[in-house]
Amino acid sequence: MKPIEDLKAEHDGILLMLDVLERMSERITAGESVPTDHVRQVLDFLQVFADKCHHGKEELLLFPAMEEAGVPKEGGPLAVMLSEHGRGRQFIGEMKNLVNSYEKGESGALLVFTTPALQYVDLLRSHIWKENNVLFPMAEKAVPADKLKLIGEQFDRFEKEEIGQGTHEAFHEMIDKLSKTYL
Ligand SMILES: [Fe+2]
Ligand SMILES: [Fe+2]
Repeated sequence: MKPIEDLKAEHDGILLMLDVLERMSERITAGESVPTDHVRQVLDFLQVFADKCHHGKEELLLFPAMEEAGVPKEGGPLAVMLSEHGRGRQFIGEMKNLVNSYEKGESGALLVFTTPALQYVDLLRSHIWKENNVLFPMAEKAVPADKLKLIGEQFDRFEKEEIGQGTHEAFHEMIDKLSKTYL
């Protein structure tokens, strides 16, 4: 798969998980019970699939190629994307801490969890929109076709080395199951 199409397909999966997280937060706010195991699955997905794998491909392979092709790193769209990845990581950290506190017996922590959860949902939805509609078209224009092809191959290797073969598929199954339960 071409690297930009690969990233866009991953965005589709991430967007579905954001819908799940939003619905979970609504249920928690409404006082309905949500299994902690499901919340942990979403966090695991966000941390490994969305951040480590997807943002890793962008930060370590695509963005440097764009920079090499003349897209400035400082003060432009690349800097915005990187800072949004960083904010996303902070929200994931906050969510994890709150779920840990909840499991240790702090019953109010799950309600507090919905604040960073919904902030994360908003952040990532707008981040993905910007990448799909502004940054990726920019990359396709700036990065030469043969370099893009090479990045596609690097993506495959990165995925195997970083998250292991088969993990991607397991995450897609997770998306399917949780979507059926919450959407
Ligand atoms: Fe990104
Ligand atoms: Fe992305």
